[in-house]
Amino acid sequence: MSDPVFECRSASVTLSLSGGARPIISDINLDIQQAEFLSIVGPSGTGKTTLLRMLGGLLHPTSGEVRVNGAILTGPPEGVVIVFQDYANALLQWRTVAANVAFGIERKLPAKECTDRVNAALDLVGLSRRAEDYPWQLSGGMQQRVQIARALALRPAVMLMDEPFAALDAMTKAGLQDELLRLRDQTRTSFVFITHDIEEAVYLGDRVAVLKGSPGRIEDIVKIELPSLRDQISTRQMPEFLAYRYGLHKAIGHG
Ligand SMILES: Nc1ncnc2c1ncn2[C@@H]1O[C@H](COP(=O)(O)OP(=O)(O)O)[C@@H](O)[C@H]1O
Ligand SMILES: [Mg+2]
Repeated sequence: MSDPVFECRSASVTLSLSGGARPIISDINLDIQQAEFLSIVGPSGTGKTTLLRMLGGLLHPTSGEVRVNGAILTGPPEGVVIVFQDYANALLQWRTVAANVAFGIERKLPAKECTDRVNAALDLVGLSRRAEDYPWQLSGGMQQRVQIARALALRPAVMLMDEPFAALDAMTKAGLQDELLRLRDQTRTSFVFITHDIEEAVYLGDRVAVLKGSPGRIEDIVKIELPSLRDQISTRQMPEFLAYRYGLHKAIGHG
């Protein structure tokens, strides 16, 4: 196997708050491989977003270390993008949809290539016809798709996604799930995907990590051994799929 893209070794984050220092995540040990899809589930407040911010270089581990392609992380690494939960704040309200998607690449690429990438990304998320609209003219789900398109346009090596589909309707969500899997196969992008939807975690994941407790720790990492070509209908009704779902609900503490 090739070297992992991410390596976390006993990484912990403690934040200094008004009431004093508070450990948020603790003793995180995790490797993420190229082209791997890692889902992360866990109750709210267990530090999932904090973990993602640490991987994205926005937050330094207080102890332990995080490496990207072998080098200690010192800031947001090249080729790693984050899709945030809070799409409204992630978009630039005075830019059109197309200009939002172009934001990260317009200064790096020739105009033609930039336009091609923006169009391809908008096509992937089904928003080609809204390219000239402004974010405030779109529904919440559409705004989130714009944010996803912007991440796709960067053609990143790693996508860190924080509950990216939580605001979407079931049909759009299923379509984008399959799009991510297709993209992973085509581009060998690695995904770290936080979700509160256990079925989504299993459907997408090569592995599912369970974060629990306060401070949050990785309680378990479940390898999902389902056929790699997943299908919204047949995969979701496989006995193995249901067994993973059941086991993860138990692990999280849902009865
Ligand atoms: N910048 C911050 N300042 C203070 N507390 C924070 C900050 N970020 C996160 N926390 C706290 O850390 C804990 C974990 O938060 P978070 O990572 O958002 O969890 P999750 O995404 O699993 O819901 C929560 O108790 C939250 O209140
Ligand atoms: Mg969160």
